[in-house]
Amino acid sequence: MSQPLPLVAGNWKMNGLRASLTEAEALARQLDGNDAITAQVMICPPATLIAPLAAVLEGSSILIGGQDCHVNASGAHTGDIAAEMLADAGASAVIVGHSERRADHGETNDVVRAKAEAGYRAELISIICIGETERERAQGDTLNVVSEQLSGSLPGAATSGNTVIAYEPVWAIGTGLTPTLDDVGEVHQHIRAELTRRLGGDEGAAMRILYGGSVKPGNAAELMAIKNVNGALVGGASLKASDFWGIISVYSER
Ligand code: PGA
Repeated sequence: MSQPLPLVAGNWKMNGLRASLTEAEALARQLDGNDAITAQVMICPPATLIAPLAAVLEGSSILIGGQDCHVNASGAHTGDIAAEMLADAGASAVIVGHSERRADHGETNDVVRAKAEAGYRAELISIICIGETERERAQGDTLNVVSEQLSGSLPGAATSGNTVIAYEPVWAIGTGLTPTLDDVGEVHQHIRAELTRRLGGDEGAAMRILYGGSVKPGNAAELMAIKNVNGALVGGASLKASDFWGIISVYSER
């Protein structure tokens, strides 16, 4: 069976003003002039920058994603953004259930699942984030937590085409810490087995599972080489084109 097409997605979080679009332009110049890269590349900027980013990236292969969406398509929800609005502004994907949303906004698995479904409704790819806290890892609960989050957050309508899973240990996000390569491999293998059980062999094998949490140019090659790691969700190191390129270029034929 052929391997899923890797995806390297940059999550800018609450960072970026219009001046930051020059980083995306620089990245597009580098990527679009290089046919050796074998991964899809995505930038998930703050919602305010989706439309201007789409304008800057017109004609580029770089995809655009939102960082969150409301479960409804419209209505009286001051400050929220619908998946349809993300799509209308130029996004083709949306991150749902990032641990910062789960922690800061109390998002449960049920809410995350509904948001992933909202993404499907708007014909976006839903990137569903799961991952254990430091305490859960210390207690030896990692695989249980990941299973529970996956079973609660993954919609029944999930397919390898409309969904990407991102495994992000909470304690590795923005800390410079990463699990050992064996630990990453163990969790990704576990997620792969769960996906195969839920979706069947072909679909389960084809769904992309990203690793996220302190991915940097210096550790990307070894992390991306792990079996069942089909790309990365990158925070801090996606803000500068040169750093992000150092991660993307791990997926180079030459
Ligand atoms: P980080 O963030 O790369 O800055 O650790 C990853 C993420 O939260 O998606």
